[in-house]
Amino acid sequence: MTDAVPPLRSFGRVRGRPLKPRQETLIDTLLPGLSLPTDARALAELASNATEVWLEIGFGAGEHLTGQAARRPQTLFLGAEPFLNGVGQTLAKIEDLGLRNVRLHAGDVREILPRLPDFVLDRVFILFPDPWPKTRHQKRRLIQPAFISDLTRVVRPGGKVRLATDWADYADQFLSVLIRSGGFIWTAERADDWRRPPSDHVTTRYEAKGLGDCPPVFLDFLRA
Ligand SMILES: C[S@@+](CC[C@H](N)C(=O)[O-])C[C@H]1O[C@@H](n2cnc3c(N)ncnc32)[C@H](O)[C@@H]1O
Repeated sequence: MTDAVPPLRSFGRVRGRPLKPRQETLIDTLLPGLSLPTDARALAELASNATEVWLEIGFGAGEHLTGQAARRPQTLFLGAEPFLNGVGQTLAKIEDLGLRNVRLHAGDVREILPRLPDFVLDRVFILFPDPWPKTRHQKRRLIQPAFISDLTRVVRPGGKVRLATDWADYADQFLSVLIRSGGFIWTAERADDWRRPPSDHVTTRYEAKGLGDCPPVFLDFLRA
């Protein structure tokens, strides 16, 4: 029997600068209690106590995740992020804001998607994913047909997915992979629907740096 081949890494570093002492402490003390339960029953129970369940994939330093979670205390926010410094920064914000509606996976989202119950998610955010702009690296991009097929299973019909990027050809790839999947409908009706930040958006420091090759594009989809 051969071992299954893990998906290509879609992220860069998992550690950057040395963690600040507070972040290191929070990873040891706060993270274990906020970790996503591993068994499906515990997860389903957690979800059933919330009005909605939202997932942010690659939450970075957590500005958007914690900003949204603070606005909606009855919504359960799940987040996946392998970059430990980002996890540490997010835990500090969770503690400062006293948030009780967040659960985190400090790792690749593709490790947790298979554990999520069908149709459990009301909203998903993938904001400024690593662009991998060089042609030879593009296979590392997170948005691929197999990933979108996993996502389709866990988002409820009528649920929403938001993708944002400031790389023009990644925006084209988002659109073509999601539309071709047949599981999602792009909701934009006019140019301002994708070229202006949506009214419920929370801008992050990463986004504000404008590192891409085009202005930010916000693509909102509805699960068919
Ligand atoms: C360019 S950063 C943007 C961070 C944040 N979304 C923002 O807009 O500020 C992309 C993030 O996605 C994370 N990422 C990449 N692949 C991922 C994966 N497979 N699962 C979860 N997070 C991932 C990276 O570690 C990185 O922190």
